[in-house]
Amino acid sequence: MRALRWGEFASAAVRDMAAVKPGETLLVLADTWTDMDIAEACLTAGISAGADTQLLVIPRMAPTDTTEFNASVSGAIKGADVVLGLCPTMFIEKTATVEARKNGTRIASTDVIGMEDFAIEGICDVDQGRMIEVAERIGEIWIKTEYCRVTSALGTDISFDMRGRPIEIGDGVAAEPGTSNFFPGVCVANAPIENTINGVIVVDGNIPPGRLVNAPVTVRIETGVITGIEGGADAGQLRAHFAASGDPVATHLCHFTLGLNPLARTSGSIHQDEHVLGAITFGFGDQDADFGGNVPDCGVHCDLVLTTGKIECDGQVLCEDNRLNEDLGLGGLQ
Ligand SMILES: [Fe+2]
Repeated sequence: MRALRWGEFASAAVRDMAAVKPGETLLVLADTWTDMDIAEACLTAGISAGADTQLLVIPRMAPTDTTEFNASVSGAIKGADVVLGLCPTMFIEKTATVEARKNGTRIASTDVIGMEDFAIEGICDVDQGRMIEVAERIGEIWIKTEYCRVTSALGTDISFDMRGRPIEIGDGVAAEPGTSNFFPGVCVANAPIENTINGVIVVDGNIPPGRLVNAPVTVRIETGVITGIEGGADAGQLRAHFAASGDPVATHLCHFTLGLNPLARTSGSIHQDEHVLGAITFGFGDQDADFGGNVPDCGVHCDLVLTTGKIECDGQVLCEDNRLNEDLGLGGLQ
């Protein structure tokens, strides 16, 4: 069935995620790990949308490969109005992409490997508009929340103040010049006020380098910084992960994220796992400037995902057992 739907995926990616308009120059960027049927479907969708569309296939580069693109690839990226990225090669950080964005090039990207069903269903079978409305409504609540408490049956119990902290909605859409977004969305996030964050999170979902835990890992946090990691072998590996970074800021809590996509499933793919409706992600280390937080500069970032939990905002339940509180105007996604 999946093979029958890549054309549908491609149309939604071009139209809804990359927001391609007739007459624009669209570069579909694939690498040697990309399924060429998907890449060609996007080429066809771009042409059908009236865009001047090219498909470029580059040799796959490892995530640790900091080599810059050659002049040919760089020119293709810089010359495009919009780039639709379909490759595991991390091209967003390359100088050519950074320069292209400064000149207005939009970047919409995904990597479907390991989350194929979600890549299709997460943009084709969801109410994208409603997800964004719900995210905005949550943002209105969070920015006024003095006491946010997150608990779970496994023992999570952590609280923090979020008042005044800007809301970031990850909608997956690259509609504005110079923007870069990864799809499918949607999630809503902010940076809790760092020195108010205290408690314990019990991680039962995704941990670095992007896999599910075998057994829950308990992470103790004091004034926004990890002070203890306990559990089985996964806890040892998580401690080793932070130690290996060599960056003391790697353990600073830098964002709080709630997934809102009802068709995402916990799978071991970090992008899909953090978008599961009601999944709670805590990010550590490098903090996006848009969060307006106080975490010092850091060269690394990682995410710890709780598959479920209860979020209370100043005593009101916002989300519990992967269901949003409809009484707060958050219905329509379940
Ligand atoms: Fe993160």
